[in-house]
Amino acid sequence: MKSTASAPGKIILFGEHFVVYGVKAILCAINKRITITAKTISENKISIKSSIGNLVSAPKRPLTEVDIQLRPFYFLADKMIQKYDEKSGMEITIDSEIPIGVGLGSSSACCVAGAAAISGVFIEKSKEEILQMAIEAEKTIFPNTSGADCTVCTFGGIMQYDKKTGHSKIDSEAKFHLVIANSKIAHYTKEVVSNVNQFKEKNEERFSKICNEENNLINDVLVCLKKNDLKGIGINIIKNQEYLELIGVSNAKLRNMIELANKSSFGAKITGAGVGGCIFALTDETNMEDTIQQLRKNDYECFSVKIDFRGLDTF
Ligand code: PMV
Repeated sequence: MKSTASAPGKIILFGEHFVVYGVKAILCAINKRITITAKTISENKISIKSSIGNLVSAPKRPLTEVDIQLRPFYFLADKMIQKYDEKSGMEITIDSEIPIGVGLGSSSACCVAGAAAISGVFIEKSKEEILQMAIEAEKTIFPNTSGADCTVCTFGGIMQYDKKTGHSKIDSEAKFHLVIANSKIAHYTKEVVSNVNQFKEKNEERFSKICNEENNLINDVLVCLKKNDLKGIGINIIKNQEYLELIGVSNAKLRNMIELANKSSFGAKITGAGVGGCIFALTDETNMEDTIQQLRKNDYECFSVKIDFRGLDTF
């Protein structure tokens, strides 16, 4: 038996960091995908082939013995084998269009496509069931995950999320292109989140004021998204970047990339934890090429994406 599934990556459009303290965040799925194929094999082993590493291992091993990046796949395969056919094994192949570890949702896309492909070998599940499996698998890497990333990778489109009320889909025509540029500086979300927490502890009043401003900004973005008002969204992107600068998650390279992208796009900002990782710039057909050229002329790796409305796909 063989089963294939693919899921999109994601970016955080607005609200990273502040979302940890209760502010709303806006995320979207992007049309760069991870495709996973799973098939049962007669030998009682789990085999994983991917660009991030390979593994051949017996089932029922403690997860701590498995390389952290491959853990979700091992966890899912082991669980399904134990449940449906203890004597069999599984071979998993992973194909990715998403750069790994730069805040573009590669691990959530892996968990969503992995959950669908691996369970699909034995049984058909709903998207909601696959999402729950994917979140469980993601917890083998990030025990405190909110599940927001897996949710947007499963259903696609644009989504708002806050800690208290959870997620809901934003209906928007979203007639824009995003130019994503990679700083090639490794990004360590946990460390940056902890530094922001220290900043907050030392500057309670200032931090709370910035959270209020971010909150107002997000409310304005929601109105702009409904109207497909790219200029309005762009102004808010630039403002949001100022708030991220204030809490110390930027650096000279990211600022330089943003400055270059701001010359022709509607607005550019960090996406995700910051300090390393990626920035994105909001564009449409009129300024996308200029924005890409501006960044490439300065040797920054960049590419354009659109919103992915498909979400999880199974074959
Ligand atoms: O770096 P990423 O894309 O994994 O995003 C981190 C987002 C934060 O808001 C900084 C942390 C979080 O848990 O929401």
